[in-house]
Amino acid sequence: MSETNSPRKVHVKTWGCQMNAYDTERMIGLLRPLGYGVTEDPGAADLLILNTCHIREKAAEKVYSELGRLKSQRKDGARIAVAGCVAQAEGAEIPARAPQVDMVIGPQSYHRLPELIARAARERGEVLETEFEAEAKFDALETPREADGPTAFVTVQEGCDKFCTFCVVPYTRGAEVGRATDRIVAEVRALAAQGVREVTLLGQNVNAWRGTAPAGSGEEVWGLGRLCRHLARIDGIERIRFTTSHPRDMDDALIEAFAEEEKLMPYLHLPVQSGSTRILKAMNRQHTAEDYLRLIERIRAARPDIAISGDMIVGFPGEDEAAFEETMSLTREVDYAACYSFKYSRRPGTPGATMRGQVAEDAKAERLARLQALLDEQRHAFNARQVGRTLPILFEARGRHEGQLKGRSPYLQSVHAEAPEALIGQVVPVAIERAGPNSLTGRIECSAAA
Ligand code: 5AD
Ligand code: SF4
Repeated sequence: MSETNSPRKVHVKTWGCQMNAYDTERMIGLLRPLGYGVTEDPGAADLLILNTCHIREKAAEKVYSELGRLKSQRKDGARIAVAGCVAQAEGAEIPARAPQVDMVIGPQSYHRLPELIARAARERGEVLETEFEAEAKFDALETPREADGPTAFVTVQEGCDKFCTFCVVPYTRGAEVGRATDRIVAEVRALAAQGVREVTLLGQNVNAWRGTAPAGSGEEVWGLGRLCRHLARIDGIERIRFTTSHPRDMDDALIEAFAEEEKLMPYLHLPVQSGSTRILKAMNRQHTAEDYLRLIERIRAARPDIAISGDMIVGFPGEDEAAFEETMSLTREVDYAACYSFKYSRRPGTPGATMRGQVAEDAKAERLARLQALLDEQRHAFNARQVGRTLPILFEARGRHEGQLKGRSPYLQSVHAEAPEALIGQVVPVAIERAGPNSLTGRIECSAAA
């Protein structure tokens, strides 16, 4: 039996996407009933979890060097688990190279964490758990969740069937699985009852989500647009967001939801990856550059103020100067509010890794610098355009300075304003006075301060 007066401590280091951040939160939730509290200090932890990301660069190498560091930092008897996509991809390689690792857990197996810890404790040997059981994972994650402030992420979909030729996600996260409608609705209701005002629906391919319509709705299948409208009717929910979307799955109902549902925030992360139709084809994106631009036009017609964000890859195999220029011109045409950009990174096991026409590193770096200069300019201009406007800001927490709160604009920009703490969790009109490269500053309108 455990000693209840000596709670155990877990330390988690998280890399990568919001999905991973969410998984970390869920793993902590699963460990709490076992008496584990969170510590920021790896040296104080009884259990160290590395929640890893495999999407770019030498992810596995970073994990091994972190494991080397932990070996000397950890306290006696502390156990080490490697979770996330590197765990999925490397599997048994990890304990073979780093014998200090007790557990390797793929993203589909977190619900088994308590059982694995118990087993590791018994055997003190390596434990491998990387089987795909996404449905079971969703089931086990139905433990009640504690809200942490006025915003929350809610997973609605896992995995990806798209097989873009650069990407490891279909291999590490498995096939697309949608979470059941009733479960999503129940989770959002429970979060709203705890004071959550904004939910962000998460999925690698979130707009591919389909779910059985709730009984009595008179409909059969719901898509994401219908789900967003339904969630918007839950008491307390004031804002809905979702990420990440694929252009192929942007259906009319979802575009219409942007036009008609005010609570659906005017911000859409819609990666295109390249502005060259030839490269898009090699990437297996299943649409042309023209398709993407027409889609953006339709979305903007539905919601004229929508902020578009994206992801771009430069230096995919076969990308020459002319193809890169097409990326630059598509970027100019879209005029992104925010956009992430990356050098193509060869991921073993993906088709792109063995394609002819790999681009030299210095050419990739030079193109990335040009693209990022343009994207920085666009982001700064987008921020500057907010000065003089009054925006509804959802205050989330205290700001860096005394008396200041921080929140988000509808367009996901960070906003700072002097405001009483009582306004945390409320949507308040803020007159935007200044714009920096990464945040805005403003003054709350008098009526809100009263
Ligand atoms: N190389 C570079 N960028 C990549 N991404 C995914 N795989 C790779 C890769 N092999 C980027 C894509 C994706 C984002 C999450 O990461 O732009 O949208
Ligand atoms: Fe990867 Fe493409 Fe799936 Fe996105 S859509 S997760 S880039 S395979």
